[in-house]
Amino acid sequence: MKLISANWKMNITPSQTKEYILKFLPLIEDAKDREILLCVPYTSLCIASEMLKDTNVKLGAQNVYYEQKGAFTGEISVSMLKDLGVSYVIVGHSERRWIFGENDEVVNKKLVACLDGGLRPILCVGERLDEREAGLTYKVIETQMRIALSSLENYTDMIDIAYEPVWAIGSGNPATPEDAQAVHRFIKNVLEDLNKNYQGMTRVIYGGSVNVHNAGEFMKMPDVDGLLVGGASLDPKTFSQIVKSF
Ligand code: PGA
Repeated sequence: MKLISANWKMNITPSQTKEYILKFLPLIEDAKDREILLCVPYTSLCIASEMLKDTNVKLGAQNVYYEQKGAFTGEISVSMLKDLGVSYVIVGHSERRWIFGENDEVVNKKLVACLDGGLRPILCVGERLDEREAGLTYKVIETQMRIALSSLENYTDMIDIAYEPVWAIGSGNPATPEDAQAVHRFIKNVLEDLNKNYQGMTRVIYGGSVNVHNAGEFMKMPDVDGLLVGGASLDPKTFSQIVKSF
């Protein structure tokens, strides 16, 4: 099933979350043939979890720590998220990598923890503008994937991957659907190469300046299995239109 996910980032308070979900649910009630996901701030998980119970919308977190418990002030574990009814978590978002210094090794540990704990990770990969201009897009993505998935080669069916070119995020300058298609195909080739028993269960979704006008165009591409939407997911009506854009 295609996966259309919101990434609210550091936006929307718990009380605003309640208003958002009250408006959003009736708008997407009939969209049952696609998976709809809200990746909300930690502080909104509790209220969102209560409100999304028995609906067609799943709940995701935007980050997680890899240790199970202990003296890690400010961090949140896989079991804490699971206990709240969270089923997905974004791992290795470029804002985590470039603002908070997460490297591929940390991303790998987080993926291991998610799979151990039964949480489905959405691994984000993508090149910066300087890397793209130097013709390094494929090399960067393959390196990110190989390190992030090291020791997890046989479990690639249990994750999803978001291709998010860093230069496209929040810039109003998305990749073209054709460029995204080419990279998505490449990502699937790497997955097939990593896991000889690969069942093709990984959805490769596109993120970076997705909006109401371009969402349907991305979804026409054969290897675009969904979308990860930041800015345009902050309004429930707009996001519902993106959910129903294909
Ligand atoms: P954007 O963000 O849609 O605002 O570009 C996407 C993302 O970073 O997940």
